[in-house]
Amino acid sequence: MDSEPPWNSWYKAALASLALRLAIQPRCKAVPGGPDWPSIESWARLNESTEGRLLRPPPPGAVCHPGQATYNAAECPLVRSAWSIYEFHGADPVSSALNTWNNDSCLPEAADPCRNRGYPVVVINATTSQHVKLGVDFARKYNVRLIVKSTGHDFLGRSVAPNSLSIWAHHLKGMTFHDSKLDPLGQVVVGGQVETISGSSHYGTAADQVLEMEIVTPNGDMVVANECRYRDLFWAMRGGGASTFGIMTSVTIKTFPSPRMNSLDLGITTTNLQNPYIFDMVAYVLSQFLTLGDRGMTGYSTFFSSLPNPLNGGLTTIAGLTMTAALLNSSSLEITTWPGRFEILSIPDAYKPFYDWYILHKDRTVAGTDGLLGSRFLGAEAFRRFAYGGAGAVFMVGGKGVRGARPRGGGHVISPAWRKSSVLAETFLTFPPLKPAARRAALNHLNYNIEALRQLDPDSGAYQNEVHPEEPDWKNQFWGSNYERLAFIKKLVDPEDVLWCIPYVGNELWHQADSQLCRR
Ligand SMILES: Cc1cc2nc3c(=O)[nH]c(=O)nc-3n(C[C@H](O)[C@H](O)[C@H](O)COP(=O)(O)OP(=O)(O)OC[C@H]3O[C@@H](n4cnc5c(N)ncnc54)[C@H](O)[C@@H]3O)c2cc1C
Ligand SMILES: *[C@@H]1O[C@H](CO)[C@@H](O)[C@H](O)[C@H]1NC(C)=O
Ligand SMILES: *[C@@H]1O[C@H](CO)[C@@H](O)[C@H](O)[C@H]1NC(C)=O
Ligand SMILES: *[C@@H]1O[C@H](CO)[C@@H](O)[C@H](O)[C@H]1NC(C)=O
Ligand SMILES: *[C@@H]1O[C@H](CO)[C@@H](O)[C@H](O)[C@H]1NC(C)=O
Repeated sequence: MDSEPPWNSWYKAALASLALRLAIQPRCKAVPGGPDWPSIESWARLNESTEGRLLRPPPPGAVCHPGQATYNAAECPLVRSAWSIYEFHGADPVSSALNTWNNDSCLPEAADPCRNRGYPVVVINATTSQHVKLGVDFARKYNVRLIVKSTGHDFLGRSVAPNSLSIWAHHLKGMTFHDSKLDPLGQVVVGGQVETISGSSHYGTAADQVLEMEIVTPNGDMVVANECRYRDLFWAMRGGGASTFGIMTSVTIKTFPSPRMNSLDLGITTTNLQNPYIFDMVAYVLSQFLTLGDRGMTGYSTFFSSLPNPLNGGLTTIAGLTMTAALLNSSSLEITTWPGRFEILSIPDAYKPFYDWYILHKDRTVAGTDGLLGSRFLGAEAFRRFAYGGAGAVFMVGGKGVRGARPRGGGHVISPAWRKSSVLAETFLTFPPLKPAARRAALNHLNYNIEALRQLDPDSGAYQNEVHPEEPDWKNQFWGSNYERLAFIKKLVDPEDVLWCIPYVGNELWHQADSQLCRR
């Protein structure tokens, strides 16, 4: 990683090689058993050059299936109980947190099929940039589909793919989530609300905090991108889409003095599902968010029209709203008398250090389910009109901190709607595995909810990590007028489409048919 060629000459070199390579590109990516799939010897050489870090992992659920090589009656119950835990899927080389993306192909249930379809074939357990580079070069040379997996949390299935070589970034040095080490120093980083995620909004988005990235480009170059070097790549890598422009092997981000948190957990529920005031209540509480946001509140809330009652084992069903709000300054959500009867549970938690607060309030969503979601940034006006039936969530990830953040290099490419928004409204649906009709029904319901959100704020956008992969207007929703520049940079840095995922920049040039990736 020595001196960088000036950006201009890099452009020219890339354009020249693009012209050359376009002339000889195969139509489809190689598949195992096909004529161009790399030989056993080629794989063995890759294994040797990566110091023996090549894996051919079985699906983790195979331990529950008699007849599979890794069948293990004693281990099966352990895997089955760990299936709902995000960390389990993060620590496995191929598993993804949502079954949706492994195509339910090997669940830890003996009665279900175990076909090993949908998982990558070979994995590099990468610990250095060099391992990543070797994987990228191999995939390019042998025309093998390449994917990248970090935690496998992805809601769009981008970290798993059939017939692929996967670079498993979980053990890369410099990519660990340092929260527990950070707090004794009294510092925090901007991250998600779930412990295992390697983006809270007081200080802006995570992309706003990036100072520098070490990247292996699809051409196999190892570069350091920042506001002075590889500026286009630096811009595209901060919001231009995961595993599209390169593989990040190290990142330097700003930290902040750890704040003390003033927080509030609030549940407003009713067991009378006919209560005519449920949505008035939801609308009232949501309507307080705008002023509270301006006073420094951020938080996550969900509302539901019917849910089993967690307090009595589901004997009665409840409807209502729950909320976890964090306030850097004291403000309070004033709840006066409600029309109709609601149970109100309010737990204020004053001035805890950030890390103590975080451990209590982190996301406790369950992994290992089948689900799809959609999202929409809503501006103040649309948010005022926002109160719809079914299930939904409102994340206060926009507002003051995000509007005021100043990213390095003058800009990045997160959705322009994010800067203008007040909240991210979200809708999430789960469905039973291996039931195509149930999946289709969920998708229809989801599209209905998303359309309602779209109509509220037609010119807004969606959060690219929390949408469903068939969002029809994705280019506009994620990037608006920035798409063209992104597509141009993609062609330069990845002329051979070594990296491809859905629905991402350059995505329209390829399609997946019968588990094989082919040019359109
Ligand atoms: C329970 C839960 C809570 C969440 N909460 C939040 C939240 O509070 N705020 C928020 O902003 N988001 C949140 N998310 C969304 C989360 O940010 C996205 O799912 C994100 O894509 C996860 O990234 P990952 O690398 O951990 O996951 P992965 O599934 O491993 O990867 C996601 C994508 O990034 C690519 N990728 C991974 N590593 C690299 C790399 N080193 N270089 C290049 N590409 C790479 C993968 O190929 C894939 O395309 C949440 C998700 C879950 C499941
Ligand atoms: C790679 O090499 C290591 C060490 O020699 C070996 O244990 C491992 O099984 C090999 N991986 C593959 C996929 O052949
Ligand atoms: C991957 O590599 C890490 C670091 O060397 C090691 O601890 C881990 O056991 C490896 N995982 C697998 C599945 O080989
Ligand atoms: C909290 O209050 C202090 C003093 O009034 C002010 O300087 C600071 O900007 C406030 N922080 C937020 C996040 O509103
Ligand atoms: C997913 O599974 C279904 C059958 O359950 C099959 O028809 C489909 O081709 C599979 N998709 C992939 C990508 O393997």
